[in-house]
Amino acid sequence: MGLKNKDLISIHDLSVGEVATILDVSAKLKRKLKQGESHEYLKGKTLAMLFSKASTRTRVSFETGFHQLGGHPIYLNDATSQIGRGEPVRDTARVLSRMVDGIMIRTFSHESVIELAKYATIPVINGLTDLLHPCQALTDMFTILEHKEVLKGRKLVYVGDGNNMAHSLMFACAKVGMNMVCASPRGYQPNPEIVREAQEDAALTGATISVEEDMQKAAKGADVFYTDVWTSMGEEAEKAKRQQDLHDYQINKELLALGRSDAMVLHCLPAHRGEEITEEVMEGPQAAIFDQAENRLHVQKAIMALLMSDERL
Ligand code: CP
Ligand code: NVA
Repeated sequence: MGLKNKDLISIHDLSVGEVATILDVSAKLKRKLKQGESHEYLKGKTLAMLFSKASTRTRVSFETGFHQLGGHPIYLNDATSQIGRGEPVRDTARVLSRMVDGIMIRTFSHESVIELAKYATIPVINGLTDLLHPCQALTDMFTILEHKEVLKGRKLVYVGDGNNMAHSLMFACAKVGMNMVCASPRGYQPNPEIVREAQEDAALTGATISVEEDMQKAAKGADVFYTDVWTSMGEEAEKAKRQQDLHDYQINKELLALGRSDAMVLHCLPAHRGEEITEEVMEGPQAAIFDQAENRLHVQKAIMALLMSDERL
């Protein structure tokens, strides 16, 4: 498969086969790590990790993962690099391309990531923008596959804000043939252009992607319940209004009861217990949230190895 030297900015840009390859290599690398087998596919390489927003999982999984692959990760943020002082993205892209082998970026504007990739001559990986969070959604597909064995034909219900997470999940579900309903109130529904593109992708795999205001209706027969924070990074000024408007869009035991009895619960984390998810569900037997968090490591290692390794995987 031809992922070598490509960027990973949106799951929409990946073929169905490329998504399957990422999931397959993730399983191989997870097994190798657990068995203590060497898998230094990126020995001698360097990754620049640019963060303009906070992170726990993304930073630790990329940094640890790149190190496990034999490479050297460098963490940069706005406060300690020239990015925060306004150095243009196109300059940063060209400078880093002459020094390192890949760039992972977490920032606000999706357009800056596209610009970074345009000027960089090395792979660029999107570690979250206001629009998308592809590495998380690929990890989520991997986690569902581990727990449910088959993805095609399963139903994922996303509850809450139609945000970056909802967008990437729509693209991911479309590519793996999973049906997804995004249950969000009016004013918080996903970007219609993204919904349209995901529906086009879904036509290739026979999946259905839809948006629904009625959360109870959406929850019927769900194999997977998913939620994310009501207020994403950068939206803090709207927090009070969002808490009011999204108040009912919570995963709790009443909602879970509407899904399949073996339905699993996912959350990309960080979680706000008592808001988008209850403590009881978060800590309950159906939650696979910490398996999901761990899998960021394995799936992103697969992504980095596929984009950057000179070896065949
Ligand atoms: N889920 C996720 O991306 O977590 P962080 O914000 O901690 O990286
Ligand atoms: N939607 C959240 C996801 C955090 C991982 C945010 O953008 O803040």
